[in-house]
Amino acid sequence: MKIGVVGSINMDLVVQAPRIPHKGETLMGTRLDRNAGGKGANQAVAAARLGGEVVMFGAVGQDENGTKLLASMARDGVDTTFVKVLPEENTGIAMITVGDNDNTIIVVPGANNRVDRAYIDSVRSELLSCGMVILQHEIPQDTNEYVAALCAQHGIEVILNPAPARQVSSALVEQVTYLTPNEHEAALIFGEGAVEDAMRRYPGKLLVTCGEKGIALAQPTGEATQVPARTSKVVDTTGAGDTFNGAFAYARTQGMELLTALRFANIAAGLSTEKAGAQGGMPTREQVEADAHRAE
Ligand code: RIB
Repeated sequence: MKIGVVGSINMDLVVQAPRIPHKGETLMGTRLDRNAGGKGANQAVAAARLGGEVVMFGAVGQDENGTKLLASMARDGVDTTFVKVLPEENTGIAMITVGDNDNTIIVVPGANNRVDRAYIDSVRSELLSCGMVILQHEIPQDTNEYVAALCAQHGIEVILNPAPARQVSSALVEQVTYLTPNEHEAALIFGEGAVEDAMRRYPGKLLVTCGEKGIALAQPTGEATQVPARTSKVVDTTGAGDTFNGAFAYARTQGMELLTALRFANIAAGLSTEKAGAQGGMPTREQVEADAHRAE
């Protein structure tokens, strides 16, 4: 089953520093890298590297960053045929500081803001040929709502990864198959102190990623469950959430049961943190399976 990712494509400008600077503080960095990123592209690469058939829907500028990012996704086996190249826009940029096992990110969306309804209409038949679609919050929310409604009409499963944090309408929550916020995003969407109730209201749909604590959810039976995270030697957490989402989509489209798919995605996300860059540590299926056997 084909996976479609409708989302952002960014060039990540990554500074390594001993720690994240405080407000108003200047620190000396140790290196600067230019890495392929963007939550959408990261999720697409994560699923493709595992062996999934993945189509990317998004936009880049007609510039050096756009050319490099398209080539890099294609090298990982992502179909980029339908990505729009815009002469009048810059490719999205993310300024990332990595320090002390954490990161901060500022995104300048550029061409990602042009992933709109007209574009979706132009790729409609290809999008509708996918069995699963992944969305995130680095393209306009109107587009996400449009795509989710279209997919719901055609029985296509949708994962909405609501990152970075912004409000999500209850209509959109109802329409998607899976919602994968972190704890902070979940509190913004459902209210502080109301996330556990929401998990019970959306069993098997609301999957809250809790970092080192793993994934919290209510099972379809109503039982509260925690799927533990993999213990990792963390080098860079950038893209770990994206790896989780891409790997979860891959696992579900391969027919894995919900909890098995979550365990698989947790291992993939854990492995991804052991190398630098959002996409640098994303594993193959063989690497995930070898790691799962080692842990048994
Ligand atoms: O989730 C990580 C991603 O967020 C980075 O690759 C960066 O591009 C930002 O979009």
